[in-house]
Amino acid sequence: MFESLPLLPADPILGLSIAYANDTNPDKVDLGVGVYKNDAGITPIMKAVAEAEKLRIARETSKAYTPPAGYPGANEAVTKLVYGADHPAVAAKRVRTIQTPGGCGALRVAAELIQRAKPGASLWVSIPTWANHVPLLGSAGLKLREYPYYDYSTHSIDFAAMLTTLNEIPRGDLILLHACCHNPSGADLSRAQWDQIADVLEERGVIPFIDMAYQGFGEGLEEDTYGLRLMAARLPEVVIATSFSKNFGLYRERAGSLSLVLADEQQANAANSQLLSVTRALYSMPPAHGAALIDIILHSDELTKVWSDELTLMRERIAGLRVQLVQSLNQLQQLRDFKFIAQERGMFSFLGLSVEQVHKLKGEYSIYMTDTSRISVAGLTKEKMDYVSKAIVSVL
Ligand code: LMR
Repeated sequence: MFESLPLLPADPILGLSIAYANDTNPDKVDLGVGVYKNDAGITPIMKAVAEAEKLRIARETSKAYTPPAGYPGANEAVTKLVYGADHPAVAAKRVRTIQTPGGCGALRVAAELIQRAKPGASLWVSIPTWANHVPLLGSAGLKLREYPYYDYSTHSIDFAAMLTTLNEIPRGDLILLHACCHNPSGADLSRAQWDQIADVLEERGVIPFIDMAYQGFGEGLEEDTYGLRLMAARLPEVVIATSFSKNFGLYRERAGSLSLVLADEQQANAANSQLLSVTRALYSMPPAHGAALIDIILHSDELTKVWSDELTLMRERIAGLRVQLVQSLNQLQQLRDFKFIAQERGMFSFLGLSVEQVHKLKGEYSIYMTDTSRISVAGLTKEKMDYVSKAIVSVL
């Protein structure tokens, strides 16, 4: 039976990590996958996470199943983290949050639920969007449509074009928005732009589906939720997928959450029951470890502070690297002004290189990035800055 399946090429992002691991060049640099690294090039276990792991091991008395929605304590803490302490939708009991296997799990469960509610529903995604959004959401049966977002020539959002398309989206369709740290462009919506988008969606009856994989990496934990909280307050229905891979550094533990805002409490209960039947059919219950750590951290004022202080340092390190990279590239050449990199947020920016140039960087310098020339800025170090800048300039 399986002889009918052809060999597929490697994943455009995860395949880079494998190629990088197999590269024997001591100068190699991994700007591929969006994983935070410190100045030693290591992805550290965050201090609060390490502390919470000790507490968890000391406290855990059983490996019996967790509830289908995951730990109630974690879900309550995550709801507060995502929506803030007193969001009107939460107060009105319109919000239901479940734990999921990472942000991918949240996206997929949401897509399956949408598919149940409205088979073949249209979901509008930004051009460009995270490479995995398309297979992850499309293979659940959603029809993917596109709206313009990033303008490669100006290195910024083409907001006028985005609004024009938004104004044509039919009622009842969904739109996928990145809460912050747009992946892959790093170009984020301003508050005024979020306000305008909320107006259009409200007027047209379009449902926002918000992917928040980088809370805390843009402007701050609270600031990064501006658009999401606005939508949840103004619109009857919102879908929110959250990942804790980056902001808690829990990548391999697969910790994420899916949160739905529904029109009223009764609909929230109905949607939640459907959600749990979707997850039961997919994986029964989410992995426990990562969520248990989040539960411990967010229920301790002390650990919450240790965690958010470290996250602030991570965010500031990336912002500092962005400034250094711009300085370094602009000092070496006058062909292009790379200042846009310092204006963008989160892990990613496009360098604006061709596929040939990207392949040259990989082949000649062992510098890895996706074929679109998306770099994960967090993969840079002060030590490698000069090497990377000179290599980029050499292929311009
Ligand atoms: C990325 O975009 O590099 C990250 O979100 C990791 C992934 O799974 O692709």
